[in-house]
Amino acid sequence: MKEFAISIPYKEYEYTELDNLSAVLVEEARKATYRSYSPYSHFRVGAAIALDNGQIVCGANQENAAFTAGTCAERSACFYAGAQYPEAKFEAIAIAARTPEGTFQNVPVAPCGHCRQALMEYETRAGRPVRVLLVGKDRVYELASVKDLLPLAFTEF
Ligand code: THU
Repeated sequence: MKEFAISIPYKEYEYTELDNLSAVLVEEARKATYRSYSPYSHFRVGAAIALDNGQIVCGANQENAAFTAGTCAERSACFYAGAQYPEAKFEAIAIAARTPEGTFQNVPVAPCGHCRQALMEYETRAGRPVRVLLVGKDRVYELASVKDLLPLAFTEF
């Protein structure tokens, strides 16, 4: 028997420590939470994706009376980006969430399993790492790659 452990590297930044692109992306993700349609959970999630063509594409969670018909902010953003700019590569994604009380989460929100898998497809397609910024009230976690969110990922077969 062999035993292995996978550790996940990430960095924590204060808002004032962010580089320009990260700061813009974080702000766009925060703004996108105000466009969330979440009458059932009241959990408002926003995502902003920076593409290599200079565009920033945003998404917000879209809920549905038939719960499973809704989708998360991350997938709304990445499917929109893929549909709108099929040739563009993803460079980075920022994700922010507000609680039902309307305040930004203290602890940065991390994407659900479905969204990790969906994002992995775009990282594979880009052929290079997509940086992930998880936005909290006064701090931001940075992961260098979607792979870090999804160890032992299922990719191409
Ligand atoms: N949600 C997201 O948009 N992204 C995540 O990563 C986690 C959850 C949404 C789905 C649903 O509309 C609400 O948050 C509560 O789960």
